[in-house]
Amino acid sequence: MNKVSRRVFLGTGTAAVAIAASQFGRINSATARDKVVNLYSSRHYNTDSRLYDNFTSQTGIKVNLIEGEADPLIERIKSEGRNSPADILLTVDAGRLWRADQEGLFAPVNSQVLQQKIPAYLRDPEGHWFGFSKRVRVIMYGKERVDPSQLSTYEDLVNAKWKGKLVTRSSTNIYSQSLSSWLVGIHGEAETEKWCRGLVANFARQPEGNDKAQIEAVAAGMADLAIANTYYLANYARDKDPAKKAIYDRVGVFFPNQNGRGAHVNISGGGLLKTAPNQEAAIQFLEYLVSSPAQDFFARGNDEYPVIEGIALEPLVAKFGSYKSDVSGVATYGANLAKAVQVMNRAGWK
Ligand SMILES: [Fe+2]
Repeated sequence: MNKVSRRVFLGTGTAAVAIAASQFGRINSATARDKVVNLYSSRHYNTDSRLYDNFTSQTGIKVNLIEGEADPLIERIKSEGRNSPADILLTVDAGRLWRADQEGLFAPVNSQVLQQKIPAYLRDPEGHWFGFSKRVRVIMYGKERVDPSQLSTYEDLVNAKWKGKLVTRSSTNIYSQSLSSWLVGIHGEAETEKWCRGLVANFARQPEGNDKAQIEAVAAGMADLAIANTYYLANYARDKDPAKKAIYDRVGVFFPNQNGRGAHVNISGGGLLKTAPNQEAAIQFLEYLVSSPAQDFFARGNDEYPVIEGIALEPLVAKFGSYKSDVSGVATYGANLAKAVQVMNRAGWK
């Protein structure tokens, strides 16, 4: 039986607000009686419910899960203010977590467990948010048309040999923004703008769709290269549709910048909210997320990389090979986000 109480937050609008208001009342009355943790999450993986059930079996603490898209959830926490029942926000991308932190949503957590288990480059140095799984944004290539020896770095993607051959997501997407922000931190604004222009000049089409759309464009021969996160490709290997399943074999993963600083990494993560009514249970939950069984569910459930040592990779993910990560710190992406967005806009990256 699924012990997790699960509700989906539909967003704004009259009907949704009415539903949210009634849920809100129930959550508050529950917190007064029971040991609970109220989790606002933009992770939509079915495997996550096993993760929460396991926490309840271990601790007796019930998990109330509110699922929604990241930005509406953040807006909801802000509008609920001091009365918010939310204890924890879980979402993806360090850039997004940084923005939520700038809005003053998170409280610092001083936990030995979290500090020791999560490498420093995958969390906020002030303890406002933590990475619980790691993702790598790589270059993917059509195996029939590209020899990986032609590939090297993100910087080299602007090489004229890739003219009309590259696809990637829109500049409005946080993954694109964090990648560009990382490059602004390394090369500065002017160089990154040049890079963005070069990238746009090599586009096979105007950016559209999510990472899967980019991978599918490569698999279909519409483009030779895509910038995408590895878990999306691994996900295809589980698809029931044989045509989709074949994508996993047709598209290769190339980890860029291996002779230099390492590949661009990001996280799925979260933190304790300042207004959390169940602080103690919430910290217990965050610490649980870096336990071995939780890491196993959390990372493997979506074919991501665990953040702690000693967890076996999903075999589909292990096949991509080992790689070197850039360890300058995902918490540094936030500071250059605004500049990155301007640079991408100026370069005409739609
Ligand atoms: Fe994603």
